[in-house]
Amino acid sequence: MFNTTAWNRIRYGLYAPVYDLVAERAFRGARRTALGQVTWQPGMRVLLVGAGTGLDLPWLPRDVELHATDLSPAMVSRLGQRAEALGRDVQAGVMDAERLDYPDDHFDVVVMHLILAVMPAPARGLTEARRVLKPEGQLCVMDKFQADDRPAGLARRGLNAFTSAIATDITRQARPLLEAAGFVIEQDTPVMMGSLFRALLARRAKGE
Ligand SMILES: C[S@@+](CC[C@H](N)C(=O)[O-])C[C@H]1O[C@@H](n2cnc3c(N)ncnc32)[C@H](O)[C@@H]1O
Repeated sequence: MFNTTAWNRIRYGLYAPVYDLVAERAFRGARRTALGQVTWQPGMRVLLVGAGTGLDLPWLPRDVELHATDLSPAMVSRLGQRAEALGRDVQAGVMDAERLDYPDDHFDVVVMHLILAVMPAPARGLTEARRVLKPEGQLCVMDKFQADDRPAGLARRGLNAFTSAIATDITRQARPLLEAAGFVIEQDTPVMMGSLFRALLARRAKGE
């Protein structure tokens, strides 16, 4: 399988100049639904993981403290430009979602939009998200997933060899992934292409 972090850094650097053309309008509604599932309060500390060019920024409340990370310097640079254009104060940096440079129990909300299906090891990204979330923190996920009640069939797994190298994995299952990482799903809403794309709101499982 040709899906590695090193390759993702290269390819998203190449995609950065055209990313908005593909993803801005297409995911606008899905983003708004996903972020609308979060219970927002003024002053919350929020982390966007794999934030890309910052297409979530226009839909986030203005009275929160924003941090954004991405593997690709080109993406982070574009996010900085978007933040400036929107008049948003965002602390943005290059960081691997598998190794977040933040303390434990630090964020009220972690947003992972369109990254769990891209990372080679989404479980590691979720473990890190859980670590940096406060015990009552909220995880906001929007991505494409295989149905939870049946694994991907042969044809889909075959196609995945191609899509995961140039775009995204299409075989991952949200519920098993999130639950194994110690999350409890509170909301799960289909947002695009039937139930291929879903918006999930999860919290840390108690006692884990
Ligand atoms: C499909 S884009 C989604 C960007 C943004 N979240 C959005 O909703 O438009 C995937 C992003 O994840 C980033 N990414 C991939 N692997 C990553 C990793 N291991 N750590 C951090 N970012 C990563 C890519 O650089 C890219 O910007």
